[in-house]
Order: sequence, then structure tokens, then C-alpha cells
Amino acid sequence: MAFDRRFVEELIERSDIVDVVGSYVPLTSKGGSYWGCCPFHSEKTPSFHVIPDKQMCYCFGCKKGGGVINFVMEMENLSYPDAVRFLAKRVNMTVPEEEHDDGSRLRSRILQLNRDAARFYYEQLHSPKGTAVLEYMKGRKITQKNAMNFGLGAAADEWDGLITAMRQKGYGDGELLASGLAVRSKNGGIYDKFRNRLIFPVIDVRGDVLAFGGRIVDKNSDAAKYMNTQETAVYSKRRVLYGLNLAKKSKRENIILVEGNIDVVMLHQAGFDNACASMGTALTQEQIRLLSRYTKELVLCYDNDDAGKAATQKALSLLNDTDFHVRVLELPRRLVDGQYIKQDADDFIKFHGADAFEHLLSGSESGIDFRMAQIAGQFDLKTDRGRIEYASAAAKLLATLSNAVEREVYTMRAAEAAGITADAMKLEVSRAFKQKAYHEKKAQERKDLNPVTNLQPRERTIRYDDLRSALAEEGVLRLLALDDSLFGPEPPLQESEFSSPLLGRLFSVLWSQVKQTGKINVGALAGDFTQEEINHLSGILQKPESLKNAAQALQDYCRIIQESANKRTAEHYDPLAAAMEKYKYKANGGKLL
Ligand code: UTP
Ligand code: MN
Repeated sequence: MAFDRRFVEELIERSDIVDVVGSYVPLTSKGGSYWGCCPFHSEKTPSFHVIPDKQMCYCFGCKKGGGVINFVMEMENLSYPDAVRFLAKRVNMTVPEEEHDDGSRLRSRILQLNRDAARFYYEQLHSPKGTAVLEYMKGRKITQKNAMNFGLGAAADEWDGLITAMRQKGYGDGELLASGLAVRSKNGGIYDKFRNRLIFPVIDVRGDVLAFGGRIVDKNSDAAKYMNTQETAVYSKRRVLYGLNLAKKSKRENIILVEGNIDVVMLHQAGFDNACASMGTALTQEQIRLLSRYTKELVLCYDNDDAGKAATQKALSLLNDTDFHVRVLELPRRLVDGQYIKQDADDFIKFHGADAFEHLLSGSESGIDFRMAQIAGQFDLKTDRGRIEYASAAAKLLATLSNAVEREVYTMRAAEAAGITADAMKLEVSRAFKQKAYHEKKAQERKDLNPVTNLQPRERTIRYDDLRSALAEEGVLRLLALDDSLFGPEPPLQESEFSSPLLGRLFSVLWSQVKQTGKINVGALAGDFTQEEINHLSGILQKPESLKNAAQALQDYCRIIQESANKRTAEHYDPLAAAMEKYKYKANGGKLL
């Protein structure tokens, strides 16, 4: 949806980028601009630069950047319209939306009701009526802080606690039923769906409360252990993952999928803030698409029982057709009274601790066991020849492990499998390791010697066809941003003269910004350019450009660009001329004219 331009401009005006970025990361002021640690990648020394004049930010480390809307899109993982709404809420501006039809009015009422209900349950958890649930929660070792993080709440052991409170807030019975929070009784009245349960609000990636899950707290109850909101006008369980609203902000590189709500809550509490779960259903295509917005790697951590294994198989076959890198984290069974019983992520963390889980997680990282077994399967270990070849193939794989301890452990195992001494295997691995380092060094040297690859944008879609011209085009953009008084009233270049269509388009837009408002505002580009394009532009504007001899530099840039443009035009006609020659040649019976 396109927003009214004036509205977006005012929104950007009111959402100062220093304030907005500053609410996520501490910033230090330095000579008119600000520096902080980049929120998009882990770092200890600040390389995130915020420039109030241009209302832009840029990270020299991960090369992400843009205006305030881009920042929020990236930070909160929102689409452009959602980022606009998010910022508007922040500064109390009303978003001019299209007329609401009845359907969307009901949806927004349900969302409002869900939000109020979540608050009600949350407050009740800390009131006398919530005592039993709170005790249960403590028994499960969920901390208050984490309960707050997830907005956990309590449904008391009564039939109308919620509906009474919500009626008082002005919600009608129709709305209560439509939200799934109330159920119609046989005698025609309505009653609370969730009773005597620990409540898990299901919050989507935008922050809307879509539904609820509730776990029974009374051990002796014969009601279902978990109850979830049924499908409603705002909730479709196929499309939502419990905990993704938090997991999407994780700095960890993958997302862990588990089976249960409590598993998600406990993993986050133990530092694995990248966990989420599909609630009581198998992973769906819609959820996979949703996940693809946030990560390239998934870790399946389902229960180690028949149902969990079937779920893993099913998820793997769905994920087979996608670009996801998938790993399986198999939780070991636990020996209790002489019997091995399955444990889920929550059990595992409780009995073995977060470090042990971290270990499993990184152990599954290389899928090393799995891959060692695959290599072993390729050779006949009963023959000498097979054992030698196996040792060398295994050494190549082991050399890719960066963790020395892990390398050592698996080297021993490989030695055992190959039937050679540990020392011989170690030698083999260290040879493979050196060879790998050598190849990597050579590859880096080749890259360093080739400046063209370094100057090219990283994003393939914005690669330059004509590097010489494109670098001059970048220079023009930089000069325009630095000092527009270098330029006359008319643009020195036509958009069509730019060799890079992106840079040409940026020049036109920035030019009209400067002419209209007297300065560049990167923030206002978010609606018209992709995030990659804006990252790229932010990078260009961040490169140093001396203002000494700037007028001369501008002239030189323009000359280079125009020369290249002329050359391209000429080349464009060349093939035609060549074809003509060929035609004449043919027409002359294959003899030169
Ligand atoms: P599990 O039965 O594996 O429970 O259900 P759990 O997560 O380990 O729960 P605790 O530890 O006993 O509290 C996994 C998930 O399946 C859904 C819930 O979302 C649950 O978290 N489920 C389970 C239901 O929707 N209904 C049920 O009756 C049971
Ligand atoms: Mn459990």
C-alpha cells in the first residue's frame, strides 16, 4: 500500500534517526554524528555510524544502512508499510489508511480484545487469583523476568473472570465469541474458554496478539493438557510460530524449532533466544516462508520419540525443496530407573544445563557425526586401500572443523575406524589443515590483487557493468550529498547517461530532494528502493570524498561518465553495423567486397 507522501515525510521529520537508533543501542556523539555498536551483527567496537544531517545510518562492518524506516524494517523485521505504522505509533501519528470494511473492522476489534485479554491475564498472574498458576510457573522454573518477556498470564479457576472484565471494557458477546476467548454454553450463555491455566499469548512478528495457548496447572484435572485458540478471523495456526516475535530479533545465526510452548520459553531463558514452535501442528509451508524472512538455517529439535521423529522427517521433506540449510539436533534419551525416556528441550536444559545444550547445538552445526558416517560408507574399510582412502577423505572433513577439541575427538574416532594409530591420523589431519589454509590464502591473495572485485557491490543484482563510469557516478552522488552548491540549477547529467541504472535513479531522486528541501534525506527513499539498494547507497555516501578541488573532481566525474555513455551508444550500434557487413559479404557470394 502506498502512503500519502506528505504523511511519510512528516513521519520521517518527527522520527529523528538518532532517537530511534538510540532507543536500541547506546550512541556516543563525535563531531556532529554518532557511533554505536551495530545492532545487526555482533561486535565489541562501534562501527555503526548515525548521521543526523542526512538522517541516515550505516554500518562499516556489515554494510547495512539507510534511513529511519529502513532501520526499523531491518531491526524489527517489518515490511515497509508495517515499519511506517510502527514509527507512526511511536510518535502518535494516525496512519491514513483506506476505508475499513466490516471484515477488517472485526479483525481490528479482535486484535484489540486480544491485547486487552493478554493484559488482563498478565495482571491476574500477579494477583491473588493467579496464585495457583504462579506456583505452577515457579515449579517449572520459569523466571518472572522471562514470564514478562513472553507476556505469560494466568486464567483463574472460574467461568467468567475474563468475560466479565472484557464486557466492562465494552466488548460484546459476539466479539468475545469471535475471538475464541469465550465459548457458548448449552443454555445459550457464554463462558471463559481458558480456566485454571498458564496462558501463553501468541504474538506475531508485528507484535499483534493473535491467539492464546493455555496449559492446565492442576495435575488432577482430566481436561486437555494444552488448549489453543481455534482458527479465528485473525488467527490461522498454519501461519504463525510461537516465539518468532522474539526469535526474529536474535543475533544467533539460525532458528531452532521445537515442539512445545514451554520448550520455547525455557530455551529463551537459557540464552537460546532463537527458538520458536509451531503449536501442536506439523511445520507448514506458510511457516517455512515466514521463517525464510529471518534466517537461512534451521535447527530441528523435536522430541526424541516416534511422533517427534515423524515430525522431523516430514519437516525435512518439506524443507528439501527450499534454500534452507537444515540441521537436526537430536536430544539424547535419559536413563531413569533403568529405562531410557525421551526428553524435550525443556527437560534437557533442566537436567543438563544450557552449556550442554550449546554443545549439542554446535555439535550438530557441522552435522559432523552424520557426515563422518557418510564418508565411512563410501569405502571398504576391510581393505588396506579402502582404509587409506577413508583416512584421507576423513582428514579433509576434519580439517574444516575450527574447534580444536572437536577436531581432536573426531580424529581419534576416525583413526579407530581406519584401523590406524591416532598419531598417523593426526598427521593426516594436520596436513589437510595446512593445505586448506594454503588454498585459502592463495584465494584471498588473488582477490586482493584484483581491485575490480573489491570495488564491485556485494549484491549481485546491483553489479556494475561499467566499473570506471560507475565509480565516477558514485563520486557525483557523494558530492551532491556533501555540497550541493557545487552544482548549478540544472543537473549536470541525465539519468540515462549513468551506466548503472540504480545510480542514475538515485541521482534523479536525490537531485529533486536537494532542489526541493535543500538537503538529502536518505530516510525518504525507503518506499522506492529495496533494502539492498539503500544499503549500497549508504555505503557510497560513507566513502571519503575530499572537498578540496571538488569542483574539478565533479567535472572529471562528469566527463568520464559522458565519455562512457557515448562509447556505449556507439557500441550499441556496432553489432548492427557488423551484421550489415556480414550480410553484404554473403550477398556477394562469400567474397569480400
Ligand atoms: P507436549 O505434549 O510435547 O507437551 O506438546 P510439552 O510441550 O512438553 O508440555 P509440558 O512440558 O508437559 O508442559 C507439545 C506442544 O503441542 C501442543 C502444545 O503447543 C504443546 O506445547 N499441544 C499438546 C496441544 O496443542 N494440545 C495438547 O493437548 C498437547
Ligand atoms: Mn515438556
